[in-house]
Amino acid sequence: MIRLQDVTKVYEGGTVAARDVNLDIQRGEFVFLVGPSGSGKSTLIRLMLRQEPITRGTIWVAGKDITALPNWKVPYLRRSIGTVFQDFKLLPNKTVAENIAFTLEVLGRPRSVVKPQVEQVLDLVGLDGKADRYPRQLSGGEQQRVSVARAFVNRPPILLADEPTGNLDPATSVGIMKLLDRINRTGTTIVMATHDHAIVDAMQRRVVAVENGAVVRDDATGRYETTMQQVIDAGSTSIPGDQPTGAPPEPSVEAAEKTEESIGSESPNVESEGEQK
Ligand SMILES: Nc1ncnc2c1ncn2[C@@H]1O[C@H](COP(=O)(O)OP(=O)(O)OP(=O)(O)O)[C@@H](O)[C@H]1O
Ligand SMILES: [Mg+2]
Repeated sequence: MIRLQDVTKVYEGGTVAARDVNLDIQRGEFVFLVGPSGSGKSTLIRLMLRQEPITRGTIWVAGKDITALPNWKVPYLRRSIGTVFQDFKLLPNKTVAENIAFTLEVLGRPRSVVKPQVEQVLDLVGLDGKADRYPRQLSGGEQQRVSVARAFVNRPPILLADEPTGNLDPATSVGIMKLLDRINRTGTTIVMATHDHAIVDAMQRRVVAVENGAVVRDDATGRYETTMQQVIDAGSTSIPGDQPTGAPPEPSVEAAEKTEESIGSESPNVESEGEQK
């Protein structure tokens, strides 16, 4: 669904933010991008969206070489990719329903289609009672639900999220992750950059770690930090700066998830046609 081949990005000024990155993301996968601040996570996401020119290499999205895409076709690429960011990016002068409807109106969908689709997605994110509020009348977690709804309302095959829980407290973050998990289970491929150890460890999905622009680890069901896990597995009893061994993990994510079917137990419901990569 997304493929990066020998991708290098050098910003003006000389910072190398991506170094020979090779990555193959299949349809329906959920991939975490982790790594220290400045390691290049957001750069990879921006490259997939064609928000930055690439220096070297090739990126395919849904079977198309987007590095060769003429500029006028870039809006078509972005129609197939929903995006969610740390700062929500909602339009302050539009209501919740209008913010979400906007995605569809830009695509020229008729009102008869827009209304039911907006209602459906509001229901999905649990905000059906708040359609007429303005963003400033919502909590941070609710605003992020709106931006997830907006990203998903036209059912894009891909959703890219850059630190979607970065401004949220742990309990609210769990709600957003449950939502992204549910969206992933409809067959949508998700790539999410994050610093959140608890979320990555609880979700047990593929983890791609970047450092200094290079992929340094790619685990099918990874944890945020393999090294720490290896120390724990080795049975060490005292880890400086860490919780004592045997202490319960962050309660919120684990507990919340136990109430739903275990993540990944359901095969993605891929509805349609479409290319392989
Ligand atoms: N527009 C830009 N011009 C020049 N350098 C940039 C630009 N954007 C990012 N960089 C540099 O590229 C490197 C990677 O930045 P990037 O934003 O991709 O990191 P990140 O992993 O997303 O970090 P964070 O976790 O803090 O969000 C950093 O050294 C950063 O300073
Ligand atoms: Mg970033």
